Amino acid sequence: MERPNAVITGIGSYVPDYILTNDELSTMVDTSDEWIMTRIGIKERRILKGEGQGSSDLGAKAIEDLLKKTNTSVDEIDLVICATVTPDMHFPANANIISDKVGIRNAFSFDINAGCSGFIFSLETARRYVESGQFKKVIVVGAEKMSSIVDYQDRATCPIFGDGAAAILLEPTSEDYGIKDSILRVDGSGRKYLHMKAGGSVKPASEETIKNREHYIFQDGRPVFKAAVSDMADVSVEIMKNNNLTSDDVDWLVPHQANMRIIEATAKRMELPKEKVMINIQNFGNTTAATIPLCLSQWEDKLKKGDNIILSAFGAGFTWGTIYMKWGYNGK
Ligand code: UT7
Repeated sequence: MERPNAVITGIGSYVPDYILTNDELSTMVDTSDEWIMTRIGIKERRILKGEGQGSSDLGAKAIEDLLKKTNTSVDEIDLVICATVTPDMHFPANANIISDKVGIRNAFSFDINAGCSGFIFSLETARRYVESGQFKKVIVVGAEKMSSIVDYQDRATCPIFGDGAAAILLEPTSEDYGIKDSILRVDGSGRKYLHMKAGGSVKPASEETIKNREHYIFQDGRPVFKAAVSDMADVSVEIMKNNNLTSDDVDWLVPHQANMRIIEATAKRMELPKEKVMINIQNFGNTTAATIPLCLSQWEDKLKKGDNIILSAFGAGFTWGTIYMKWGYNGK
């Protein structure tokens, strides 16, 4: 039997209602709307409020939206992969908690932590399950409550991140659509620039780690920025070359939304006009593993069967990567 292709057949999403504006942030730390807009390009981000609410609640709502839109029952799902750096707890996996909240019981599920490249790494993993022919309906959900690990006293990181979730359904097809190619990379030595200092096995939580605010994101922004600009653009250009795609052939770039200047640099290297680049960083900020599916969700109506789409990301690890896919359905 021919190996099937793995194609996205639906998208669902959910962002919390609360909008944290640059003006409100400016009352919390020494910053300004002008600095954040010029250096990062973010106007506002969503924040999940409420006791006992975690990233699994965002992920579950995104999957419920996906199942409703694709008219899929929970019993049909074979596998759920959750990309996240902000799981509800160290264990069990967020994907397990989400599956339980949604009522998915005939499946297996696990998490992938690849920082901001989490969605791309997870989609490539899901692709291989679907291509095996054994798994028919696989969900990849990016779900993040970044506000749970952001230090709202650190002006260098608190403007960047937001909360949100989005999910896609991946299915087999015998048609010539779906995921065609990928390049995934890692350089663990980059961890010194972007990590959480405490709460893991090296430095378990203690009074001292809490006093030192070590359970929040630590980022040395400049080296991360430098690596992101070159590595994300390098793999994006490489995947175009490997698949004989010119900038005219590419219909959409879906970049990770970390910084407007990183997005613009990647698009420039790919010689793509701004109209072909999905950008919603101004409204949602960096939702880590959720940025790329959130973009796909927002642009879904505009997508056409056969569109050539390139997804690209860079994040903590360092991790980075890109996926080339041929879109499988007309949005409207
Ligand atoms: O998605 C995961 C991967 N992460 C990324 O891709 C993030 C990559 N890095 C970046 O996007 C940028 O490095 C940042 C947005 C984090 C920072 O922008 P930058 O242009 O690299 O600024 P900087 O850190 O070099 O800081 C420049 C100045 C400093 O002041 P001095 O030393 O020049 O006096 C900072 O103290 O800006 C100051 N600064 C701020 N000023 C106002 C830093 N944060 C703020 C702030 N408001 N929020």
